[in-house]
Amino acid sequence: MNCSYWVESTPKTDYPSLSEDIYTDVLIIGGGITGISTAYLLSKSSLSISIVEADKMAMGVTANTTAKITSQHGLLYDYLLNSFGFDIAKGYLDSNEEAIKTIENIIKEEKIDCDFVKQDAYVYTCDKSNVQKIVDEVSAVTSLGLKTEYVTKCPLPFKIEAAIKFPDQAQFHPRKYLISLLQILTKKNVNIFENSKVTDIKHVKDKYEVYINGNKIIAKYLVMASHYPIKNFPGMYFIKMYQESSYAIGIELEKDVFDGMYISCDDPTTSFRNTIQENGKKLLIVGGGEHKTGATDVNIDDTYTNLENYIKSIYPKAKIKYKWMTEDCVSLDKIPYIGEFSNFLPNMYVATGYKKWGMTTSHVAAKIISDRILGINNAYENVYTATRLEPIKNSKEFGNMLKQSIYSLAIDKLSSPIKSYTELQADSGGVVDYKGKKLGIYKDKHGKMFAVIPYCKHLGCELSWNNLEKTWDCPCHGSRYDYTGKIITEPTVESLDVIDLE
Ligand SMILES: Cc1cc2nc3c(=O)[nH]c(=O)nc-3n(C[C@H](O)[C@H](O)[C@H](O)COP(=O)(O)OP(=O)(O)OC[C@H]3O[C@@H](n4cnc5c(N)ncnc54)[C@H](O)[C@@H]3O)c2cc1C
Ligand code: FES
Repeated sequence: MNCSYWVESTPKTDYPSLSEDIYTDVLIIGGGITGISTAYLLSKSSLSISIVEADKMAMGVTANTTAKITSQHGLLYDYLLNSFGFDIAKGYLDSNEEAIKTIENIIKEEKIDCDFVKQDAYVYTCDKSNVQKIVDEVSAVTSLGLKTEYVTKCPLPFKIEAAIKFPDQAQFHPRKYLISLLQILTKKNVNIFENSKVTDIKHVKDKYEVYINGNKIIAKYLVMASHYPIKNFPGMYFIKMYQESSYAIGIELEKDVFDGMYISCDDPTTSFRNTIQENGKKLLIVGGGEHKTGATDVNIDDTYTNLENYIKSIYPKAKIKYKWMTEDCVSLDKIPYIGEFSNFLPNMYVATGYKKWGMTTSHVAAKIISDRILGINNAYENVYTATRLEPIKNSKEFGNMLKQSIYSLAIDKLSSPIKSYTELQADSGGVVDYKGKKLGIYKDKHGKMFAVIPYCKHLGCELSWNNLEKTWDCPCHGSRYDYTGKIITEPTVESLDVIDLE
């Protein structure tokens, strides 16, 4: 597996795992940017707070982001204005602008050294047919009260047709920021548990019983900051959200790297930002290659190579130092789900569906959820109401999800494998026939085979083999497992069943 610059340049955390039953007022499930920021805001109250993390802190999606801190979430505001009206569009913009200021204030107040730098953010196009979209976005954002600019030139090292520029946005090193916040939380007596995976949640009277490592935490308030909610019912987030994978490469150049943060609105989408490395040299981070997680109709083997070839067409001497990928949840109406998890489960909150803009949205979520718990009015909670079902009216996306589920749950599962295990090449995998049984097998470079039952432990869809990352990916809701069957990404909370071929 590849590793991000953020992970490589910071130490791993070392918090204990849960080894006894405890009571806490607020239990936060998930130690990514959402969970840690929510704990930080709540730590100013008198409530007792605990965070439980299945793996290590700040190692989930947050460790593999590109960490642009911006309210410019692609071309969004013209769509929001036309689909939901002025109040929702303005609430979305203002809440994310406030989140940028919140992050900056926390960094200043707590004196956090995390490479925070102000940057302009651009959505650009190199395609004449997309220029009108930029014009419309400029007009939408201006009508919502944010100063923005239409430009036809920017610091990118190639010609663009047009761009919308948001001034005064920012970038940082997400793990440096979060590791410092964790140190502050420890001093404020927040309980932090790593290697503590939640496997079950029960609502008993007015409390929640949460099961971890054979122990139990009882909590009055529960915050599901697990990226994809790990509880299926009654929230049913799996019918109103999917996961999308994206890739990034970190490049060292001989010349200086341009400033600013960029994302194109063309197909394929490309994104750029820089950062200063520990050795003092700038690293250019280039992102792209997005596709639905587990998709079987795209060729993902060439994703990194395509990014590399693209960047080498601009900088022939570019040196690729890092490669990484991850996935994020995308709601069907492009607005994240933040707030009450379900109308039937009081005091349980959720924050998900950030569609790859979680640096600011996590702070919007932390504020809405902490305000709900502390009984404070929040002007933006109606923008993000998590219990809404309207997104499934997006018949195109909902239809695609339904079709995928029918294929993966029924048609693929009932069909016989096309290949026999004897046809597997070294360092490849797939769902194959193994002596009359349908198995998922990865054959390593030395010919050793690792076999799993190829059905997702979330809701049972047939998994697809990802030969680029050597993982089993679920096309239904995006759970991922490594080739040995171990969980990489939720919503599943169980690893795959393994078959010993010996
Ligand atoms: C390639 C890429 C680039 C991106 N770039 C940007 C960007 O430039 N700007 C931006 O704003 N956003 C960006 N994003 C989006 C952003 O990174 C995410 O939205 C954000 O990091 C999500 O944070 P999180 O805390 O919700 O999830 P995570 O960081 O994944 O944290 C959730 C945690 O919950 C834990 N967990 C899961 N299940 C359990 C369980 N059962 N028990 C206990 N713990 C559990 C996981 O292990 C994980 O650590 C990008 C996303 C991608 C994919
Ligand atoms: S992630 Fe839902 S069935 Fe696999």
